[in-house]
Amino acid sequence: MLAPQAAQHSRIAEIIAEHSALEGPMLPILHAVQAEYGHVPAEALPMIADALNISRAEAQGVMSFYHDFRDHPLGRHVLKICRAEACQARGAGALAEAAKARLGVDWHGTTPGGALTLEPVFCLGLCACAPAVMLDGQVIGRVDAARLDQIATEAGA
Ligand code: FES
Repeated sequence: MLAPQAAQHSRIAEIIAEHSALEGPMLPILHAVQAEYGHVPAEALPMIADALNISRAEAQGVMSFYHDFRDHPLGRHVLKICRAEACQARGAGALAEAAKARLGVDWHGTTPGGALTLEPVFCLGLCACAPAVMLDGQVIGRVDAARLDQIATEAGA
């Protein structure tokens, strides 16, 4: 049996080979790698760059342009804060800043130890109860900094 790292390397090579004949293969490859691992492991980018004959900087540029791609695994919990209009009008901006300060991460960041990942989202359909957040798929309305602190603590962050 292959060591985990060698297995990962050969699986990524397989994914690249499966998609490299496509027109514009970069995004399909990144999506497929992320679907497999939950993120794009560091070793994947140079492999993709080599296979597509582009520089590593170019590959990195494409990946960082699309916020859907992560270079590290998601946390055990994912907290999404609504950044759309109704929530913005009801203090979501300040709530987001409070969340970043409380968790010590920026958007798409994961707290040390991996408890919680912070993501922006654009409308959760809970505008009447703005500002709204979503924790692991569950929407929560009228969240202030104190409630957010409680949510983070319960999530282990
Ligand atoms: S604008 Fe935030 S839930 Fe709709």
